[in-house]
Amino acid sequence: MKTVKLGLIGAGGIAQAHCRAIADIDGAEIIAAADVVKENVERTANRWGISKTFTDYNAMLKMAELDGVLVCTPTAVHGPPTVAALKAGKHVLCEKPMEATLKAATEMVRAAHETGKILMVALKLRYSPQVVKAKAIVDAGVLGDIYYAETVADRRRGNPGGSFIRKATAGLGASADIGVYALDTALYLMGHPKPVAVSGITSNYLSLHNTWNPALKETEVEDFGAGWVVFDNGARLVFKTCWCMNMDSLGGTIFLGTKAGLRIGVGEVRGPQEGVTIYRDEFGEPITISVPTGGSVDLFKTEDTAFVDAVREGKPSPIDPDGMLLTNVIIQGVIDSSEAGGREVEVTVPTF
Ligand SMILES: NC(=O)c1ccc[n+]([C@@H]2O[C@H](COP(=O)([O-])OP(=O)(O)OC[C@H]3O[C@@H](n4cnc5c(N)ncnc54)[C@H](O)[C@@H]3O)[C@@H](O)[C@H]2O)c1
Repeated sequence: MKTVKLGLIGAGGIAQAHCRAIADIDGAEIIAAADVVKENVERTANRWGISKTFTDYNAMLKMAELDGVLVCTPTAVHGPPTVAALKAGKHVLCEKPMEATLKAATEMVRAAHETGKILMVALKLRYSPQVVKAKAIVDAGVLGDIYYAETVADRRRGNPGGSFIRKATAGLGASADIGVYALDTALYLMGHPKPVAVSGITSNYLSLHNTWNPALKETEVEDFGAGWVVFDNGARLVFKTCWCMNMDSLGGTIFLGTKAGLRIGVGEVRGPQEGVTIYRDEFGEPITISVPTGGSVDLFKTEDTAFVDAVREGKPSPIDPDGMLLTNVIIQGVIDSSEAGGREVEVTVPTF
C-alpha cells in the first residue's frame, strides 16, 4: 500500500488532533509542517516526529513528495494556503468552516475545479453515527419530501475567546464556528437544495456586555445568528446558532417530511435529546421511534482516513466542496440581511 505523504499548514490547537489521527492511520504520514510562528511548528514537529519544518507554507508546497496538505490555520486564513496548495498540485483537507467570506470560499472551490485536486472540508459530524444513520433513513425515503427544517447549534455560555473572536483571524463568530455544523447537517440531509433568499439577524450584544468574562468584551464577531432560508425546491429552513444566550436552548434540529419527521441531536448540533428519532403514523396512530445509532466513533481518525483513502485511490472529495459552499452562501446571506436591517436578501450560488 502506497504511503500518502502529507504536509501540515497551521500547527495550533486543532492541528494536534489531526497529527494524532494521522499517526494512527496505516499508510499515511505527515512529513512536513509550516506555521508563521516558529515555536508552534517546532513544538508540533517535535511532538509528532515531523521531519521538516517551515515558516512559509509556499516553501513547503515545493516539496514534490507531498501528496496533500492539512490546512489548520484560523478560518479567515483558510483561503490563501488552500488555493496555493491546490495550485501546487496537492490535495487539501481544510478545517471547517470553509472560509470567512463567500468570496474566499468560492476561490477555494474554483481552484479545486481548475486543478482537479481534492478539496475536503473537515466537517467531522458527517462521520458521527447519528448523522450517518439519519442520512441512511432520509435516503431510504422514510421522510418523503422534506418541506421544512430547523437546525440549531447553541451554547449557553460558550464564547471560545482568543483568535475566535477577532475579525482578522476568525472573520465570523458563532455562525461559522458551530453554526456551520448545524447548516451542513441540514443541507446534507435535505439533499443540498439551492438557497435563493435569506433573511437574518446577528448580534454580539451579550458578549460585549457580559458579566462573566471581561476578555469577551472584545468580541468583534457575532455571538448569535439566526436566519430564514428559502430554497429553490420550495423548502424552508430556520437556522439558529449562538455562543452565549440567556436561555437553556434554542430548540433542536428537526426535519418535517411528507411521510415522517426526524429529530437529530449530535455534538454541537444540540437539541433536547441526543440521537435520532422518527415521528410518523402507523396503523392510524402517531408513533415515535428512537433509532439505535451504535457506539461512538473517533471522528478525526474517520474523516482523515476518508481523505487519505480518496487521495490514494484517486476518488472524489468525500465531502463535496460545492455542497459545502452552500453553508457559506447562507451564512453570508444572514450577515448581509442583518446589515440590511433584517430585510430578505437574494442569494446566488456560484457556478464553475
Ligand atoms: N474540527 C474541529 O473540531 C475544530 C475545533 C477547533 C477549531 N477548528 C478549526 O480549526 C481552525 C484553527 O483553529 P485552532 O483552534 O487550531 O486555532 P489556533 O489559533 O490554535 O491555530 C492556528 C495556527 O495557525 C497558524 N497560522 C496563522 N496564520 C498562518 C499562516 N498564514 N501560515 C501558517 N500558519 C498560520 C497560527 O500561528 C497557529 O499556530 C479554525 O478554522 C477552526 O474553526 C476545528
